[in-house]
Amino acid sequence: MKRRVAALLTLAFTLVVALPAAILALVPSAPAPQSALGTGGAVAAAEENAARAGIRILEQGGNAADAAVAVAFALAVTWPEAGNIGGGGFWISRDARGNVTSIDFREAAPRAARRDLFIAPRKGGGGVPSSETGPLASGVPGSVAGLALAHRRTGRLPWKRVVDPAVRLARDGFVMTEPVSASIAGEAQRLSADPEAARIFLPGGQPPPVGTLFQQPDLARTLEAIRDRAEDGFYRGRVARTIEDDQKRSGGLITRGDLGRYTAKLRKPFRFHFQGVDVLTTAAPSSGPVLAEMAMMVEIAGTGRFRAPGVESMHWLAEIEKRAFYDRNRWLGDPAFAGVRQSPFRDRPRLQSLVSSINPRHATPTAALSSIPAEKPTTTHFSVVDGSGMAVSMTTTLNDSFGSARVAPGLGFVWNNEMDDFATRPGEPNLYGLVQGEVNSVAPGKRMLSSMCPSIATAGGKVVLVWGTPGGATIPTTNLQVILQHLLRGQPLEEAIAAPRFHQQDLPDAIQIEKGRFDEAWLAELRKMGHEIREREKIGRVHAIGVESDGTLRPVADPRGGGAALVVRAARAASPAPGGTPR
Ligand code: DON
Repeated sequence: MKRRVAALLTLAFTLVVALPAAILALVPSAPAPQSALGTGGAVAAAEENAARAGIRILEQGGNAADAAVAVAFALAVTWPEAGNIGGGGFWISRDARGNVTSIDFREAAPRAARRDLFIAPRKGGGGVPSSETGPLASGVPGSVAGLALAHRRTGRLPWKRVVDPAVRLARDGFVMTEPVSASIAGEAQRLSADPEAARIFLPGGQPPPVGTLFQQPDLARTLEAIRDRAEDGFYRGRVARTIEDDQKRSGGLITRGDLGRYTAKLRKPFRFHFQGVDVLTTAAPSSGPVLAEMAMMVEIAGTGRFRAPGVESMHWLAEIEKRAFYDRNRWLGDPAFAGVRQSPFRDRPRLQSLVSSINPRHATPTAALSSIPAEKPTTTHFSVVDGSGMAVSMTTTLNDSFGSARVAPGLGFVWNNEMDDFATRPGEPNLYGLVQGEVNSVAPGKRMLSSMCPSIATAGGKVVLVWGTPGGATIPTTNLQVILQHLLRGQPLEEAIAAPRFHQQDLPDAIQIEKGRFDEAWLAELRKMGHEIREREKIGRVHAIGVESDGTLRPVADPRGGGAALVVRAARAASPAPGGTPR
């Protein structure tokens, strides 16, 4: 009897501990993220000068919202591929008393834009306009309005104090770093096509050399106008006039009327429950509902299937993602327009029937339509928590790296190419391979659907996690995988963020995986089940902050990109990680 128990225990140990460990050992180990520990406040962001601007605001008595506004404007200077005043994004914050503020500052189509803008050839020749390059690719920027609204509702320090660090970084300059120089070099060809972008980012035909001072006087003047007159400094007056003149000259549609009409919108946060935490995320036109639907389906399908990485969890997750993206493509867009539906995304009986349509042994086919574009890390997400427990989660973008790669003459800011996030030609894939529905077609004043979904999780009335990522269509699935690893599998936040990622978006009908990071035997098994596997480089670039039960803050910057994880009054350093310096 005893021997039988011992044999059973050995078998159980082999199955539960040793075998998964051996399998895991086959999978290449994850690169190490940067992290830190502290209690006075924390910032996790894509670029260190910008993160430091936020830390300084916290040290001066600013709250998380003040710091977030400072980081956002600073990123427009020091992380020009994605930080912006010429783009848009989503903000969600929660103060220590539990007040939640969710702001949609997504770009909007100019009033003269029509459904067939990117379908019909331009009058007077020139072919069908591009939604990726040129002046027509840009939507009316939302960032300045969004940050002004966020600050007015939730900030504490004077506006000028929180914008000033960005003015100084632009006017006095910052020392060019390898990641920023490399990001400019990566887009040198597109930037060189625009004389103003080339003048600023490619002086002498090359990206500014590492170690030299990089100053942006035009951008500094635009930021000064914003510092001194808040949104009026951008949407009215000299800046607005200069934008209109440039648009007229270059064949764009954005007028002073469009700029004057633009407003950031307060939205109800989209809430759902996952593994004992309450998640607050952003609603349409963002993809918070997609994140909610996937997380809820994971629980409906039974969390046991997802406890360990492997064929079963990859198959089920891919099938769940496929169904959620199918819903995204038919129901999500600007809620001010007809056809948008958000309630089905958390309608439990409907999700139950969706889960029951999953075949445990075979992929449900969808017609493959397009090849997968290589991801460029071009949106940016940052997270801030202050000493009181107030949290801000914000994702912002120009869409492609450096947006449309155009700089407004004399104004120094980079234009977005967000019009491509509309279903510009319904049925055809966009830059991210998304095949979106009529519900997201172009219309005057309409906001284009986004994949962004910055999120905050709370438990027992306290913030426990603030997180988000860039990555185009992979944003909701990356955000899901972070909480799957961290909350369901119990991995420390650093490991949860470093873990290999994959993605399914219905069309193209394939699982996209991070190259070289998954066990070949699993992939062979998934192929047998009918999944097409496509490799790509990195997926996502998460900047998150975990809040521990004793109030310790743990900012983490994804190892997939430099980034910075900084704290106020660091109590002790987290375990040192190669490739990342705990601060
Ligand atoms: O809003 C969206 O869904 C896209 N414009 C985001 C683009 C993006 O994340 C690019 N980063 N890799």
